[in-house]
Amino acid sequence: MTMYEIITQKKRNAELSTDEINWVVAGYTAGSIPDHQMSAFLMAVCFSSLSDRETADLTMAMAHSGEMIHLDLGGYSVDKHSTGGVGDKTTLIVSPIVASCGVYVPKMSGRGLGHTGGTIDKLESIPGLNTSLSFEKFIENVRSAGLAVSCQTGDLVPADKKIYALRNVTATVDSIPLICSSIMSKKIASGADGIVLDVKVGDGAFMKDIADAEKLARLMVNVGESVGRKCSAVITDMSKPLGRAVGNSLEVIEAIEALKGNSAKDLYEVSVKLAAEMLYTAGKGSAEYCRGLAENAVSSGAALERLRKMIELQGGNAGVIDDYSLFPQAKRKKEVFAAEDGHICGISCEKAGLVSMKLGAGRISKDAAIDPSAGIVFDKTVGDRVKKGDRLAVLYTSSECDIDGIADEFADIFHYGEKSDVPEEKNVIKIIKGY
Ligand code: URA
Repeated sequence: MTMYEIITQKKRNAELSTDEINWVVAGYTAGSIPDHQMSAFLMAVCFSSLSDRETADLTMAMAHSGEMIHLDLGGYSVDKHSTGGVGDKTTLIVSPIVASCGVYVPKMSGRGLGHTGGTIDKLESIPGLNTSLSFEKFIENVRSAGLAVSCQTGDLVPADKKIYALRNVTATVDSIPLICSSIMSKKIASGADGIVLDVKVGDGAFMKDIADAEKLARLMVNVGESVGRKCSAVITDMSKPLGRAVGNSLEVIEAIEALKGNSAKDLYEVSVKLAAEMLYTAGKGSAEYCRGLAENAVSSGAALERLRKMIELQGGNAGVIDDYSLFPQAKRKKEVFAAEDGHICGISCEKAGLVSMKLGAGRISKDAAIDPSAGIVFDKTVGDRVKKGDRLAVLYTSSECDIDGIADEFADIFHYGEKSDVPEEKNVIKIIKGY
């Protein structure tokens, strides 16, 4: 078997055997297959795709490339994973809700990718908070608070670490089988009993249309179920930023406000639906009963207290919950105003993510530092009626970026029209169950 032959087969859309897929993953992880051949293989997959059987084989080969975690918590555990979006702070809301209802949430999260944000970058805006927990400390915290959110431990799915970095620079990210194998290999290796996937669809997501989002959701659910995990996928809207804040500390503040009962409607709907789905997966009762549990966890303040405990156990200053001035404060801000009268009938979501990145909330290059204070807070969103001169949003940064130029670019992301041009709001689009 040679990599040249495998690339040629995939280029001609031939189906690879399980042994061939295992050989590619093992060889690339060990370093015997070079980046240039793996890049050609990934591009061939982008054009020819993989069958469902090949995708499942690739996922399992990647999952087994490193440590497979056995959680052994003595109670049901559920993990949740989003395919990536703009303003997506749901992990910070959903995990404490579910933990406060008696279900363990061992959450290994990632950093921002391209225009999309990452939970680890958001949490690191809390002074002192450690996101690099050892496996022992991670489990100890989950046992004690019901939840912990950490970066992946060192030897978890090394194949994905290498392949993802390569995909990021070879324009091979937005492939359904590659996204499925990347996400599900990590979820399967990290050991939770149940998995709820938040598959984002729309301009700000990797999946731009519902047919593709549904295909990805079904594929991920089938792969998870085929190895004995209880899986479901919630397809949610990412045609506009979720909630009102985009950026790290800004999103943590918005999540805390949501747990205090002050949430934007779209953020509340998506968060409660995901939390209820996780509780349902854990066997806590009917869908309706689980929704009630999730809502009660917010209104009673129980979920907020779980978040406080999680922050304390990870070494963070939990005082941020009561005093937002303890977060790093932006040195510069710029208000952006409506250019005309009308209804906002669209916001270019991917561009909003890119603007936030340019302000410093994301990484322009692989090793760039994050500005925890940077980002956007929207005053107006899709459906709102505005008059010329109304404030639309405030941009924040502590960097020396060209904030005026960025603000001009940002003003163009708003699309105006008549009331009849405003699309119907649908936050949760579909649920796909594997069980
Ligand atoms: N998130 C991942 O972890 N992997 C992908 O390929 C896309 C989103």
